[in-house]
Amino acid sequence: MARKPPPRRPSASHDKPPSRSRWEGKAKPDWLSRALARAGVFPLAEAEDAIRAGRVSINGRVAKQPLAPVPEGAVLRVDGVEVQREVETRVLAFHKPADVLTSTVSQHRTGTVYEVLLPQLPDELSRYTWHAIGRLDRGTTGLLLFTNDEKLVAHATSPETHLPKRYVATVQGTADEEKLEPLRRGVMLEDGPTRPAKVKLRDAHTVEVSVTEGRHHQVKRMLGAVGLPVKALHREAVGDVLLDVPEGTFRELTPEEISHGLRYSGQN
Ligand code: URA
Repeated sequence: MARKPPPRRPSASHDKPPSRSRWEGKAKPDWLSRALARAGVFPLAEAEDAIRAGRVSINGRVAKQPLAPVPEGAVLRVDGVEVQREVETRVLAFHKPADVLTSTVSQHRTGTVYEVLLPQLPDELSRYTWHAIGRLDRGTTGLLLFTNDEKLVAHATSPETHLPKRYVATVQGTADEEKLEPLRRGVMLEDGPTRPAKVKLRDAHTVEVSVTEGRHHQVKRMLGAVGLPVKALHREAVGDVLLDVPEGTFRELTPEEISHGLRYSGQN
């Protein structure tokens, strides 16, 4: 006999707000579990549990639905304590090892960067939902930033921001200035021309490339286009933030590094 499937409890990755066309043209409200996670009160899954347990109120009324809309300016309380919703932007600089995937925050599968990063976070930082700023290929090592601020993700990954990302590639074959020159003008890839890149020859097998776009496999494709297939790729810097922690570890950026190093005012 066919067994009836158990009722599905929405998980962090499945919780999606119902579509609300009535919010078109207006500021769309956050939904309750996400508002609590953004405020750093709980990680998303714990926020859902707290809401279902009746610990959370919106404007004085207990709300038991994680997807309940939170109107602008609403007062949220957890166990009667008001939630501070203006959250400071926090950024972690993580040294990604090879052979781990950069996944999205809702895809905490095994073998992802989250599996390496999250267990190291102190309590104060583990309350936030951390978003990777861009992605590095599985084999690429180096600087991968994480933030609790989705606007910063959009800022830092938009080509319009022109934030340079500096890579060092170990290439097959012998690199020389003549081979690298086209990259300084821009090369044609399947998805269009690249912007002129800053390129330096470090030695016959090592090339430094700074790009201000973040297209899929961009650096490997650029070097491949000039006859220098990439054997290994490492990111040394994003904006003026340099990688300075051992592989597999992280540190938190200072507010100055966020505002100057990543050119982020928080106003976008
Ligand atoms: N360019 C690539 O080709 N791979 C990366 O991981 C990052 C940039």
